[in-house]
This record gives sequence, C-alpha cells and structure tokens, in this order.
Amino acid sequence: MTVRDLPPPISLSPCWQIVAPGQVPGSGRLHIVIAPGASFGDGTHPTTQLCLQAIAALAPRGRSGWRLLDFGCGNGVLAIGAARLGASVDAIEIDATAIAEAERNARLNAVDDRIRFAHTLDGAVGPFDLVVANILRPVLLEHAVGLVGLLAAGGALLLSGLVATDVPAISARFSPLLDGRRPEVFEQGEWRELVWRA
Ligand SMILES: C[S@@+](CC[C@H](N)C(=O)[O-])C[C@H]1O[C@@H](n2cnc3c(N)ncnc32)[C@H](O)[C@@H]1O
Repeated sequence: MTVRDLPPPISLSPCWQIVAPGQVPGSGRLHIVIAPGASFGDGTHPTTQLCLQAIAALAPRGRSGWRLLDFGCGNGVLAIGAARLGASVDAIEIDATAIAEAERNARLNAVDDRIRFAHTLDGAVGPFDLVVANILRPVLLEHAVGLVGLLAAGGALLLSGLVATDVPAISARFSPLLDGRRPEVFEQGEWRELVWRA
C-alpha cells in the first residue's frame, strides 16, 4: 500500500487529527498515528470521536503523569490520545489481536512507555483521574462497580458505545454508585456518551 492509497486524515474538533503512518499531519492539531488494522478505533466512528473530544476537554491541565484507564482499548486510539496529553495509561482489551495492534500503534506514536496493557480489568491499578469505556452496554453494566471503584476522588467517568435507548439503564446502574449524580449526555447522530464529572 502506498501513501496515496491511504484514507484521508480525520480531523476532529477541538484538537485531534488521526493519520496513517507516512501521512504528514496538519499543523495546529495533536495527531494520532493509527496503522490500518482489524481492530476498532480508526477514528471514523462517532463514539471514538465523542471520547476523544471529552478526553481533551477533561484532561487535567498542566499536570503530566495524570492517569487514565481505557477499558476496551481496541487499536489504542484513546489511550494514545491521552498519552499525548501527558497521561499515564492503563489500557484493557480482551482481544489479543487488538492488543498487538494497540502496542504497535503506541510505538508508532512514541508513547509505548506511557501505556500499560492488560487483558482484564483486574489488571488495572487505580486510582485514575479519567476512566473511559467505549464498549457495549452489557459489558458496562457488568463492570459498573469495578469501573467506579477505580476512579480517583474528583475523577471523571466517560461511557460511550451507547445509543439513546441505552441511556436510562446505564444511568440507573451508575448514578447510585456516584452519589446519585446524573450524567451529562453528549450526542453525535444516534450515538451517546455519558459523562460524570466531579
Ligand atoms: C467499540 S471498541 C472501542 C475501541 C476504542 N477504545 C475506541 O474508542 O475507538 C470496544 C473494544 O472493547 C473490547 N472489549 C469488549 N469486551 C471487553 C471486555 N470484557 N474486556 C475488555 N475489552 C473488551 C472489544 O474487543 C473492542 O476492542
């Protein structure tokens, strides 16, 4: 495959650009290099875009070494984006092929020393300033207690991979674990992201 065969870069407000290896990123944006692969996270899906935008908005400013948990990291796009914003990341992924692709992408972005990979949530060592999970509703419901338990005091929880009809069940499961707080709901087309912040 030559550079000319690659898909065009994906620009996301406010600050991201996703490029393939060999593509020259535009100026003024943080770029994430993602090699073509089989796993989820090429940047075209609205849930990935909602998560990247929320990570940029909620990343602690001026503090490197802040911590993010990426549950269901796919090809590593969110973990790499957070690492580019100074985070130290635990990335959890059940699929071995996806982990291999995420490790390769982390190396391509020179952030492999900032991301620790594991296959299950038991491999995550909290607390985390941001916990992000772009994953299907049944998995979120199953791991609600574990995810909330890994949040730092004052941390934020970002859940996506959801459509409008998922919102009531997810809110009902997570809000009681978060002092009864209600989430902010962000939307892109049919897709939703729920954010609980302190
Ligand atoms: C929708 S993709 C998200 C990928 C990437 N984080 C993004 O936002 O584009 C969800 C990922 O979660 C993984 N996954 C599903 N169930 C899981 C589980 N129980 N534990 C860890 N990873 C899981 C899938 O293999 C898939 O790669």
